[in-house]
Amino acid sequence: MSKSLQAIRGMNDILPEQTPLWRYFEGTVACLLDNYGYKQIRMPIVEFTELFKRSIGEVTDIVEKEMYTFEDRNGDSLTLRPEGTAACVRAVLEHGITGGGQVQKLWYIGPMFRHERPQKGRYRQFHQIGLEVFNLDGPDIDAELIIMTWRLWGELGIRDAVKLELNSLGTSESRGRYREALVEYLSAHHDKLDEDSQRRLKTNPLRVLDTKNADTQAVLVDAPKMADYLDDESRAHFEGLKARLDAVGIPYVLNPKLVRGLDYYSKTVFEWVTDKLGAQGTVCAGGRYDGLVEQMGGKPTPGVGFAMGIERLVLMLETLEQIPEEISRQVDVYLCAFGEEAELAGLALAERIRNELPNLRLQVNAGAGSFKSQFKKADKSGALYALILGDDEMAQQVVGFKPLRGQGEQQSIAWDALAAHLATCVVQG
Ligand code: HAM
Repeated sequence: MSKSLQAIRGMNDILPEQTPLWRYFEGTVACLLDNYGYKQIRMPIVEFTELFKRSIGEVTDIVEKEMYTFEDRNGDSLTLRPEGTAACVRAVLEHGITGGGQVQKLWYIGPMFRHERPQKGRYRQFHQIGLEVFNLDGPDIDAELIIMTWRLWGELGIRDAVKLELNSLGTSESRGRYREALVEYLSAHHDKLDEDSQRRLKTNPLRVLDTKNADTQAVLVDAPKMADYLDDESRAHFEGLKARLDAVGIPYVLNPKLVRGLDYYSKTVFEWVTDKLGAQGTVCAGGRYDGLVEQMGGKPTPGVGFAMGIERLVLMLETLEQIPEEISRQVDVYLCAFGEEAELAGLALAERIRNELPNLRLQVNAGAGSFKSQFKKADKSGALYALILGDDEMAQQVVGFKPLRGQGEQQSIAWDALAAHLATCVVQG
């Protein structure tokens, strides 16, 4: 195929054999979020570039290097969203749905775009399920977000493979004081820092903390600790969160170097990480952003949220072989009809059955074909049973009911009794 007809590097098709697992994952999360009282919101994929610059931060990797930005025909600078929080804040402000202290518990799902170097678990178009809560400022809601994800890992069968890392960045005032102390310390060791950290020291010094460079890490050992700069309010908030996680029995690791790659966080930050996926081990991450709404032109409104990467979690289900058996079968019953008259009767019969058993996955053979070819297709569909309509069956107003997976002999069932019979043999999800 010529190059121009290939998908863009880092942007993947999700093929039919993969979608059942995606739908299982997405359905499980959606159901969980419904049960905890979250409501879905849908935002556009494209926003004004300014929105992301103002919220994520001008000197972050995302804004500096990774955004898909273009001019539209009006000359406006637009960007494919690299994440969902900014657009969600924009939407709640624009529609006034957080005004007067209204609590909003919202979630969204969809593609995000970042021009990163593609590798396993890291793509240029990837998918997130994200969640944002507005107007609740206590540690109880931070805890709820974490408890909910913990339950999800349990339902998916991957709980033993993920670890919770936790930190508090404090309020913007305490973070400002810490930043000053850190800059003073790092400046005194400037020559020992790697080039990237030297640059970050000037632009976004907290990001030096999560450097991968061993020499810089050695310098950081004696650097001032963020925890020592937390104000009383942030400290109490963090203690409140930890007490709740302890009460529910959720293990966590305190990681004082966890700073996150987006600038809007304050107080709680967390990441769920795994060692099962190689380098791209963060499957879900987020935190509190109490200053963001105001920074974007709204009234002071506390906010907290997270997003999980669907590709990474699907990959984990595959790696850990946590794929429920029922999702691989997509057809319960396959109807084969031989001859024009049988085909017409088969169509009508199939619709009657669908009326009575709306959850039955019934596939009617299309494209006619011999006995042999229709049975082959029935078998390949994965169906448990074939229904057969030929001349003999038409004459007696019955169908041949043939188990395809070795559950007994073929038998004849009257058309009127077919729905009741199917209801007893097919377990419907
Ligand atoms: P983030 O840490 O940039 O946070 O992304 C959240 C998750 O999206 C990551 O933990 C990862 O699972 C997935 N992800 C990110 N980049 C990629 C990529 N290139 N390929 C595949 N998966 C990726 C945010 O986006 C924040 N908006 C989260 C948040 C919501 N904070 C508060 N509310």
